[in-house]
Amino acid sequence: MLVRKICCIGAGYVGGPTMAVIAKKNPDLKITIVDINKVRINAWNDSDLSKLPIYEPGLAEIVDDTRNKNLFFSTDIDTAIDESEMIFISVNTPTKTYGVGKGMAADLKYIELCARNIAKVAKTDKIVVEKSTLPVRTAEAIKSILHNTGNGIDFKILSNPEFLAEGTAIQDLLNPDRVLIGGESEAAIESLAQIYGTWVPQNKILRTNVWSSELSKLTANAFLAQRVSSINAISELCELTEANIEEVSKAIGMDSRIGPKFLKSSVGFGGSCFQKDILNLVYIARSYNLNQVADYWEQVVIMNNHQKRRFSDRLIKTLYNTVSGKKIGMLGWAFKKDTNDTRESAAIYVADHLLNEQAMISVYDPKVSCSKIQSDLNYLGTRTEAENYEGLTSVDSPYKALNEAHAVAIMTEWDEFKTYDWEKIYSQMKKPAFIFDGRNLLDKSKMSQIGFEYYSIGQ
Ligand code: NAD
Ligand code: UGA
Repeated sequence: MLVRKICCIGAGYVGGPTMAVIAKKNPDLKITIVDINKVRINAWNDSDLSKLPIYEPGLAEIVDDTRNKNLFFSTDIDTAIDESEMIFISVNTPTKTYGVGKGMAADLKYIELCARNIAKVAKTDKIVVEKSTLPVRTAEAIKSILHNTGNGIDFKILSNPEFLAEGTAIQDLLNPDRVLIGGESEAAIESLAQIYGTWVPQNKILRTNVWSSELSKLTANAFLAQRVSSINAISELCELTEANIEEVSKAIGMDSRIGPKFLKSSVGFGGSCFQKDILNLVYIARSYNLNQVADYWEQVVIMNNHQKRRFSDRLIKTLYNTVSGKKIGMLGWAFKKDTNDTRESAAIYVADHLLNEQAMISVYDPKVSCSKIQSDLNYLGTRTEAENYEGLTSVDSPYKALNEAHAVAIMTEWDEFKTYDWEKIYSQMKKPAFIFDGRNLLDKSKMSQIGFEYYSIGQ
């Protein structure tokens, strides 16, 4: 099936970078990314590249190269669907906040809306690609919606989950460990494989059945998150036994069967997907009555919640059991470095807990806006917006955040935090000056030499 025009529904963290790279590597394809969110589309079209809605190293350059040449951003969803031979669905699939499966299952309403829209608009045969992360067997529902239009159009459905990580999205897309394509139609699979094949070696393009592809995505995220929770579980034991988590990570990671990646102990994993995808996996397992399987994976999320809570409890306990009225300077709000994404960031939960104890929080993050920080906190609904505003301020310089503070809480591993003048910061803080390093980012002995009381994870 010859594909010349592609439409991607959803101009988010996945749709934007993924299509930008496909456009860059396939100059003969015309790609239109569409979204119902006008503000987001306008930002993607902004001539000032610093205003793109997503910050990812290397993204602005690729958008600059391809935009309005073979990559377009639009809110005209119907036209883009109509003229394309291949349609990616890359919309959000958040955890349900209502009804059956509330707090666990994936909310598939946006996916279904896309399928219905495609069914309504399409006049020619299409390949429909699931790019969003979906529960296993979702393709069945999409197929049922598309094949019941009665207009005689042939829809081929593929699953092509995305494995990029934020902060390294462009590198991950340019050099993927693998590209996974699941489907029934060999011709459709090969059409998509050909597009990736312009830069990905064929031996890294894995073809499977649709269900394996859908389930592999949830499984990959569950395994990755499980590693973080496993090392975090050991970090608590380290703190009581004088073992050092960095040494333990290194020692076990040198075993080639375990491997060194994803063994960095932290204040807890965040991001839009790990928790959502594991909860979804747990929900699916329970729906098949596999309660032991469900309990096994649920523990990964339980451990992560414990790690976030433990971090703030330790801070409060160390500050003589009270943070009431004390200024706590927070460095970082994003869920990891090199992204402006804050979804499910540990910082939100730690801040919320400290505010319950009447701390006065001052936050600095190099890429996250003040309004985003406030809205993340307001979204929890723990207290009124006015109370959140009173308890937490965000500032445009780390030195302002830490001036007169009783403690520093490092929430994100931004490289620039290592380069600050920590002697100056120390001189401007209340004494004793505490650092709670939720990322084990700073040099412990250097900080202690300066005079800080330094607490890290698992040491
Ligand atoms: P996102 O929220 O950043 O973007 C989704 C976009 O879809 C939004 O801009 C929204 O307005 C748009 N949208 C929703 N319904 C629509 C509709 N009916 N028509 C048109 N546009 C619509 O989400 P994201 O982070 O890009 O994630 C998308 C999917 O990819 C999710 O399933 C997620 O689990 C998966 N995923 C995300 C990542 C990641 O790093 N963020 C990585 C791999 C996979
Ligand atoms: C993760 C996966 O790595 C991607 O493969 C996947 O495509 C994506 O989820 C998704 O489906 O959304 P992402 O969440 O962007 O990517 O970032 P990660 O690098 O996986 O980090 C997730 C969280 O775990 C971050 O808060 C990070 O700080 C934390 N983490 C990661 C640790 O605490 N320790 C580690 O060793 C690794």
